[in-house]
Amino acid sequence: MGKALDGVRILDFTHVQSGPTCTQLLAWFGADVIKVERAGAGDITREQLRDIPDVDSLYFTMLNHNKRSVTIDTKNPEGKLVLEALIQKCDVLVENFAPGALDRMGFTWERIQELNPRMIVASVKGFGPGPYEDCKVYENVAQCAGGAASTTGFDDGPPVVSGAQIGDSGTGLHLALGIVTALYQRTQTGRGQRVLAAMQDGVLNLCRVKLRDQQRLDRTGIMKEYPQYPNGSFGEAVPRAGNASGGGQPGWILKCKGWETDPNAYIYFITQAPVWAKICNVIGKEEWATHPDYATPAARLPHLKDIFAEIERWTMTKTKFEAMQILNKYDIPCGPILSMKEIAEEPSLRKTGTIVEVDHPTRGKYLTVGNPIKLSDSPTEVKRSPLLGEHTDEVMAELGYSPEQISALRTAGAI
Ligand SMILES: CC(C)(COP(=O)(O)OP(=O)(O)OC[C@H]1O[C@@H](n2cnc3c(N)ncnc32)[C@H](O)[C@@H]1OP(=O)(O)O)[C@@H](O)C(=O)NCCC(=O)NCCS
Repeated sequence: MGKALDGVRILDFTHVQSGPTCTQLLAWFGADVIKVERAGAGDITREQLRDIPDVDSLYFTMLNHNKRSVTIDTKNPEGKLVLEALIQKCDVLVENFAPGALDRMGFTWERIQELNPRMIVASVKGFGPGPYEDCKVYENVAQCAGGAASTTGFDDGPPVVSGAQIGDSGTGLHLALGIVTALYQRTQTGRGQRVLAAMQDGVLNLCRVKLRDQQRLDRTGIMKEYPQYPNGSFGEAVPRAGNASGGGQPGWILKCKGWETDPNAYIYFITQAPVWAKICNVIGKEEWATHPDYATPAARLPHLKDIFAEIERWTMTKTKFEAMQILNKYDIPCGPILSMKEIAEEPSLRKTGTIVEVDHPTRGKYLTVGNPIKLSDSPTEVKRSPLLGEHTDEVMAELGYSPEQISALRTAGAI
């Protein structure tokens, strides 16, 4: 079966996490992704957080599936010529260098346009134009600058960053959408264009509801679904809401059986209004269904702490899976707190290809997260990441270089 992006060639100048997540997705959708790396070293993540000596790290292998690797010294004059040939042959150049690095290599937007006016040049940067545009940025910098850290954690503690890599992988996702959109527009215009996804912008996009709340706070001074209501106080900025749910349906994380020894024996419980009577029945508080202090969502808001304490008395008598099973029978929304170990072992995720076991020539078998986006006409087959420079000769031959020329370029240190 064909793939959605068959025929699309990507010149992949990405490294670390944000850019590689983007090009990995495009590769899973069928694009031919040619990753350009520095000879001898490659993407720095190949050697970061290694668990096996001299073997590509999981950090690298899990972000670079289905790509080809070529090594080119882009500061070598002959290496630059090889890069020019690649620019002429590819549809998209994706990069996440520090600001200005591509220009310093000699590949300005104008130069790339001269070489290939159809080329789309897609970049991840830490910040968009403004006071911080020249800064180098990593995941947690973006989480802090994009509003995630100030709104995450508990009111009486410091800002907290999330385990979800919303700055890196989140921005990679944004960039991938920008690229396919630009490819679509090119079918009408015949022209390439620049695509920019700034990590601060990507994080802020995912924190949209918090900017909503800032404006509600500015107008009214309180937000009744936040744990600060009614006993705490609100300041000028959106506070950290602990585990309160972002929407209008109050929720909290509650202990389950075994919480004393298992750090993940918890469940997220949502007191969704339409199932309130069922919740009261399940936890043995039938009288709350009609009591004036508890019967309506508005009446419940000042009592949420007591309500969750009472529900927790019930959840503590069940494992998170037992609670999940019982509550779902009554359509009560809830979610067990799953550990990475439990997720890795979950058979249904293996079945759907969301968790995949991959074989690698030097590492052996390892688990990865497969393509989370499933297309019915473009199935994803997860293939191992390339070894450093594994496809240099193959790609050079496709560009029209003879074996003698390839060998001369190698001697010159260009590839
Ligand atoms: C991630 C980041 C902080 C890393 O910074 P870094 O390790 O210093 O790497 P840089 O991107 O600055 O690139 C370093 C140099 O390698 C050079 N280089 C890269 N590939 C090369 C190659 N194949 N051959 C020769 N030189 C190469 C670059 O030209 C650059 O040189 P210059 O600084 O002399 O112009 C930075 O790239 C960045 O801010 N990226 C944008 C935001 C981002 O994506 N952050 C998330 C990372 S997960």
